[in-house]
Amino acid sequence: MSRQAYVNGQFVPHGQAVVHIEDRGYQLADGVYEVWAVFGGKLSDAEGHFTRLWRSLDELRIDHPMSRKALEVVLKETLRRNRVREGLLYLQVSRGVARRDHAFPTDPVAPSLVITAKSLNRAATNAKAEAGVGVITLPENRWGRCDIKTVGLLPNVLAKQAAREQGGAEAWFVDADGLVTEGASSNAWILRKDGVLVTRDTGANILRGITRHSLLDVIAKAGLKVEERAFTPGEALEAQEAFITGAGALVTPVISIDGKPIANGHPGEMALRLRGLYIQHAQNAGI
Ligand code: PDD
Repeated sequence: MSRQAYVNGQFVPHGQAVVHIEDRGYQLADGVYEVWAVFGGKLSDAEGHFTRLWRSLDELRIDHPMSRKALEVVLKETLRRNRVREGLLYLQVSRGVARRDHAFPTDPVAPSLVITAKSLNRAATNAKAEAGVGVITLPENRWGRCDIKTVGLLPNVLAKQAAREQGGAEAWFVDADGLVTEGASSNAWILRKDGVLVTRDTGANILRGITRHSLLDVIAKAGLKVEERAFTPGEALEAQEAFITGAGALVTPVISIDGKPIANGHPGEMALRLRGLYIQHAQNAGI
């Protein structure tokens, strides 16, 4: 069966799924998005993503495109029509279509809602993730509201491309104080040699990752120690392990920073254990 996308009230063949050229998401990056990991045909960490979506919309004063219940129905229907059991579900809401003007449209317009789903070969992505990834560091050059999940991702795009060109898979932004904020599409973590896990606090200018949040619960249940605070790339290089979290990465070990190995340069045991525990959580807690 061919792929289908949901666009403003209708399911259409993926190849014909389009928005208007004056959609404010397209012209001005005036929109927000969410990505759910899908396990066994279910949305993982569903509530966290819904809550963050509403918050992103409210912060930007974009109307909610539909109720929480209705949205859940459409999201599940998108999975069903695309036969996605293991994969990713993408949702984007823009302020809508209006004659180009930086300020909000004076006559109210309906927000645009687009949803797509894609399947992943979980065995292949697991094997790739479990091998670990390299990260590079780059100066933080994003705006001051990275807590809002907007589609304005140009710095993230350029950072990711730079990482790829240097043989890595992720870029860690480093702020003016020399502290890691987060990755281009993931949150950053280390495991200190004394067994304490460290990830940046959400008071900083970072996305409040849903995977990060759920993993903190998993960590608490496992009785592990964690500190929510900033760390430098230097501290990460001295660490026992490092890893990243996100709906795409789940929990992925980091094996090098700027080409320098972390510990023995192999994926860490803790990262792999947490990956397993997180996947177990995601498989059990989906809706
Ligand atoms: N990105 N930080 C940034 C900048 C992100 O873009 C993401 C997610 C995360 C992790 O958030 P979560 O655990 O809620 O997925 C952190 C998604 C996956 C993306 O852009 O595709």
